[in-house]
Amino acid sequence: MTDDKYLMLRHVFLFQELSAEELKKLVPLLKEGGYRKNEVLFRANDPGSTLFILRSGRVKVTLTDRHGREVILRVMQPGEIFGEMAILDGYPRSATVTALEKSQVFTLDRDSFLRFIQEHPHWSLKMLATLSRRLRKANERIGSAILSDAHGKVSRVLLDLIPDGEWEGKEGIRVRLALTRQQLAAMAGVTRETFIRVLKEFERAGSIRTEGKEIIIVRQTDLSREAL
Ligand code: CMP
Repeated sequence: MTDDKYLMLRHVFLFQELSAEELKKLVPLLKEGGYRKNEVLFRANDPGSTLFILRSGRVKVTLTDRHGREVILRVMQPGEIFGEMAILDGYPRSATVTALEKSQVFTLDRDSFLRFIQEHPHWSLKMLATLSRRLRKANERIGSAILSDAHGKVSRVLLDLIPDGEWEGKEGIRVRLALTRQQLAAMAGVTRETFIRVLKEFERAGSIRTEGKEIIIVRQTDLSREAL
């Protein structure tokens, strides 16, 4: 199991620059956990003292209002870390995290995480870059939510899916959707009906193609033009 952990960590982007020795020191500090589809890992405002590394599956980071309406802030992919905010600023969890599918995680307790940061300044810089990228994305989403029309909002969500897609040359970029249309609409901040209508318009214009649970982004530039 230890070898298994080591090999997995080797593939985690954030850990790629650590030496074999450094990584081997990290392995015994990690605990393993598993979650069923729809299981909540933790809720917004819970106290939090654990860092998570997603090993397999997908989890969503959400905020919910008192009417139960949900906005999806991000879908975490294998290899990504989350739960660092409550540890770093000492405030409760900033959002709820729920498994979208059966997911496995590694966890690191607060003290080990803080010690690791102090002992590996190089690694900390890489983590700061990751957090900056997330802030950049969050800014784009805020700008889009306030300033864009429905076409812009849907375009922003589709563009955000691209890093998880597969390049198919002239055909475009194929993205397997981990989210339902309803959830993608929630991410865009539009109703499901509007999301589907805009998707159809993009499809008619030849900017995208839909194939069941997959979307093929055919002309990325069309979407970039619409998005903020
Ligand atoms: P924490 O606040 O401890 O718990 C919720 C986690 O979700 C948070 O740490 C981050 O890891 C993650 N998170 C919160 N907001 C965002 C966001 N806008 N984009 C990406 N990840 C987020």
